[in-house]
Amino acid sequence: MHFVNWQRDIAISKIDGKMVVIKRNKTVKSINEYLLVFIFTFISFVLLHPTSPFRTGKFILLNEGSLSRQKLKDLGIRTPRLIEINNDVIIEEYIDGGNLYGFLQKSNNLEIVNKVGIITRNLHDSGSCFIDNKAQNYLVKDLEIIRTDLGLIQNHASEYTKSVDIGIFLASLLDLDNEKYKIIEKSFLDGYKNNPTDKLPYLSVIVRNIAALVLVSDHSNLAKNLLKKSDIK
Ligand SMILES: Nc1ncnc2c1ncn2[C@@H]1O[C@H](COP(=O)(O)OP(=O)(O)O)[C@@H](O)[C@H]1O
Ligand SMILES: [Mg+2]
Repeated sequence: MHFVNWQRDIAISKIDGKMVVIKRNKTVKSINEYLLVFIFTFISFVLLHPTSPFRTGKFILLNEGSLSRQKLKDLGIRTPRLIEINNDVIIEEYIDGGNLYGFLQKSNNLEIVNKVGIITRNLHDSGSCFIDNKAQNYLVKDLEIIRTDLGLIQNHASEYTKSVDIGIFLASLLDLDNEKYKIIEKSFLDGYKNNPTDKLPYLSVIVRNIAALVLVSDHSNLAKNLLKKSDIK
């Protein structure tokens, strides 16, 4: 079975009787990365928070490596077991629950995103950011959240990069129907905030709205959700 992604070719296979995921870089991957870096940096200037381009290339492999996965585990962030990694391919344990976007489309157990809020906050409090914090990069197994696609993690957490993580996560779900989206937004933000009076990185809404234009597939739901007032504070 193959997943159509713009960064990597994803194949599911078996090694020693165990299901694994084999991730191979697409030829266009580096072009896409330059595009992402340009958009990320350009928007930071537009929002008057000039931010240096995020690191790619060999840092992506470092972030996907076992040391990085151990560091995340120490922060309470689970990742699939790494089986093999080199310049061309990453092989990791197959998580059979599918990704969070698919889960939320089908399920009414929306409170699960509270855990993603906590995960994102834990990483931010440790001084790092995911950057590519789409719901599709979270996997669900027995109602537990497992984070995959670690390549773009950056070891700094500014008002802008934290807003990017919150904005991109919410944007990736902004084409779900409004009732669902509202519950998801509140549950994620409750998980992110250490206490109800906690302030959120203040560029989150504008980053969400910009990112949503690129990320979502159902633009009619997107329009409905964007027109509805957000509770983000
Ligand atoms: N270990 C895994 N187990 C099950 N599904 C996975 C696993 N890793 C990735 N996937 C699925 O493949 C999709 C693409 O993988 P990802 O690593 O995010 O590649 P890309 O860099 O192209 O986004 C994910 O959104 C998820 O649905
Ligand atoms: Mg991904």
